[in-house]
Amino acid sequence: MRILGIETSCDETATAVVETSGEDFAVREITNVVHSQVDLHAEFGGVVPNLAKREHQKLLVPILAKALQGVPVASEQPPVDFSQVEQFFDRNQPLLESLQSNTRTLKKPDIDLIAVTNGPGLEPALWVGVTLARALSVLWDIPLVGTDHMRGHICANFIDQTPHQFPALALTISGGHTQLVLMEQALRYKLLGETVDDAAGEAFDKVARLLGMPYPGGVPISNAAEQGGDAQAFDLPRPMIHSNNENFSFSGLKTAVLYLTQELGETEVQKQKNNIAASFQQAVIDVVVKKTLNALEKYTAQSVLVGGGVVANKQLRAQLTSAIQQTRATLHIPPIHLCTDNAAMIACAGALEHIHLKKQNNPHTIGVDSNKVIDEVMSIP
Ligand code: KG4
Ligand code: ZN
Repeated sequence: MRILGIETSCDETATAVVETSGEDFAVREITNVVHSQVDLHAEFGGVVPNLAKREHQKLLVPILAKALQGVPVASEQPPVDFSQVEQFFDRNQPLLESLQSNTRTLKKPDIDLIAVTNGPGLEPALWVGVTLARALSVLWDIPLVGTDHMRGHICANFIDQTPHQFPALALTISGGHTQLVLMEQALRYKLLGETVDDAAGEAFDKVARLLGMPYPGGVPISNAAEQGGDAQAFDLPRPMIHSNNENFSFSGLKTAVLYLTQELGETEVQKQKNNIAASFQQAVIDVVVKKTLNALEKYTAQSVLVGGGVVANKQLRAQLTSAIQQTRATLHIPPIHLCTDNAAMIACAGALEHIHLKKQNNPHTIGVDSNKVIDEVMSIP
């Protein structure tokens, strides 16, 4: 089975095609195209929803065309009748124009399913992907499935990887979320805990700003830390590290860095930049590793599935790997391009739910839910 994935929940415009073998949970990546809008949002220090929407409208169809290059076209080509789908584009006229002017893309590809992120995320951004997916589903007469972005991050661990042991513990750390999720069995998600304020990636971004580094802050902070930063230089808090639950909190840590920078003063902050970055980074890692180990023991999980953009952090990966190696659980970390936002993970999550749980959405009624929760009950026939 071949699946097209579409992802526009935040500031990555992404499409991908994956393939399943149909028997187990094995999914193969065929094409995976991601355009990051990061440069566009950098000057605002964060993602601006309507700007993201405009950019998605402009780029999504050309990016779809790229992902479909090399995918064979269907043997039967239905006539393209826009009158069936024009009403979907009420608030997305530029997307409709882009689709209409890109007739090559409109050739029906030989795919069996369209999976699209319909939450959580930025509502105007989500609607761009969902609008295109609805239209393609109707124009091509291909089933549609709405996919949860956070389930996508977890399912990135099913792409080109061997099967996993359950119960599995999923740790997802990105710019928008920090979650620990239990999977008693494949595709059954239970949210154990999440951040009560800032996400881990958001804390990296805010601390980078305090240190005069560009947005997004994860890479500059980790680079600074690696340039001889001493992780013990400053004693920063590890919020909620001893709390008896799976929740996180990172806003107090960011505030502690703010006070530290005020105390040190501009010149000293510049001198100590690498040390502050390393100390902050270590505080985040300590909390993430400890809470993961606690949850692993509490729920006797057999494997840990990691995901989200913060996993690009080398120190975090190294320390998490060595901590999990001391346990009986196996650790799964996708390659970096599948940790950051992409559409292959969405195609994978949607495909697995469609195949194993018979999930499918009506293209005429599917909506978006910007605050979607990962363990909301699905109707399972
Ligand atoms: O998963 P992602 O690509 O997008 C969201 O869904 O949020 O994650 C982006 C986040 C940003 O906050 C960015 O600063 C952080 O991941 N990030 C990192 C690193 N690379 C990206 N955080 C720490 N260390 C990194 N090397
Ligand atoms: Zn994400």
